[in-house]
Amino acid sequence: MMKKNIDQIDASILICPECKQRSITLEPSAHCTNPNCKKTFPIWDEIPSLFDRKTDEITQHFPDRRMEGLTTQDIINNAIYNWSHIFSDCDRENFEKDIAFDYHIDAVEGTLPDSFFRLSTPSTGRILEIGTGTGVDGRKLAHYNPNFDYYGVDLGFAIYPCQRSSKKRSNQRYIRASALSLPFADASFDIVYSYGVFHHTPDPYKAFSEAIRVLKPGGHFCTYLYEKHENNALKRIPLTLIESLHVLTRRLSHKQLKLLCYLISPAVLLLLSYPAQILKKTPKLKLLGNKFPYHHGTTPKSILGDLMDRFGASINYRFSKEEFANLFRQNKIAQFKITKMNDRAGYVGFCSK
Ligand SMILES: C[S@@+](CC[C@H](N)C(=O)[O-])C[C@H]1O[C@@H](n2cnc3c(N)ncnc32)[C@H](O)[C@@H]1O
Ligand SMILES: [Zn+2]
Repeated sequence: MMKKNIDQIDASILICPECKQRSITLEPSAHCTNPNCKKTFPIWDEIPSLFDRKTDEITQHFPDRRMEGLTTQDIINNAIYNWSHIFSDCDRENFEKDIAFDYHIDAVEGTLPDSFFRLSTPSTGRILEIGTGTGVDGRKLAHYNPNFDYYGVDLGFAIYPCQRSSKKRSNQRYIRASALSLPFADASFDIVYSYGVFHHTPDPYKAFSEAIRVLKPGGHFCTYLYEKHENNALKRIPLTLIESLHVLTRRLSHKQLKLLCYLISPAVLLLLSYPAQILKKTPKLKLLGNKFPYHHGTTPKSILGDLMDRFGASINYRFSKEEFANLFRQNKIAQFKITKMNDRAGYVGFCSK
């Protein structure tokens, strides 16, 4: 019999997100045993929500994915709302298919030293993914390191379908929590990975330092962040335009946003993706083609997720390479590397602590 998600969580590494003490118990209900705190935490679908009181307030309208169709306009809620809808659409059943699916972690791995994400067996340990989204990257990480315990955290309610689709893997467990206040003790993880999450939080600096805090000395950390495109006007100018439309677009419901993005996708393909692909066929113009936004687009569906991200995510911090480097330095990490993936915008930063 497969253990329940909640039973697989090692409570000894948990800290209370409110009082920061190692005082969480999950049985028979999730709560903090510190008499000065006594915070209680809901558990739905075997997943505890370990939020501090402030995050509770932000997320209170979104306690679980059964509450569809809400139209709260709050800026942070909107981000959670849209992401959760996007990822709830992809309740994925086929684990083997996910392992074969070319996803973010595959592009990231191309920039990393060998075995960064595939720690040598027979050692054991823990892996943390912050912002699990669809869960595809997490399933791969857990698969690469079968002796390790994988922990996935996300703020949104798409974590419920994500956990359900991962049930077949015994080394995966999920906790609903915020990147800004991770419910884990210092130095708990051998690998910490987060793709495209910190820049969607109100405080990417805090998210970054939380990730480093929970990493063991010698552990591997890797994250992907949006770039400022400081040297590429072809991307910077349209982005500035889109961001000025955010006042309107972030107020759209998930359905309205999806419709808007479907409607504009043919124009994006015709004006950007297809011309870029023609340029990329000529060796001398390949570099220029790669600078076009949406240069990888083939069909409306292939660019829908990116368009919804551009228009719908309320918070989109962007970093120059120097600003990214400062995130490491501010966290007393002297040895780190910031690279780019083949053909993809954004920076990958990694280090060993
Ligand atoms: C762009 S998606 C990336 C998901 C996944 N890492 C991937 O590569 O597909 C951003 C994810 O971050 C989550 N998120 C946003 N703010 C968060 C926070 N403060 N703490 C934890 N997760 C957060 C969203 O719910 C969403 O799943
Ligand atoms: Zn507490």
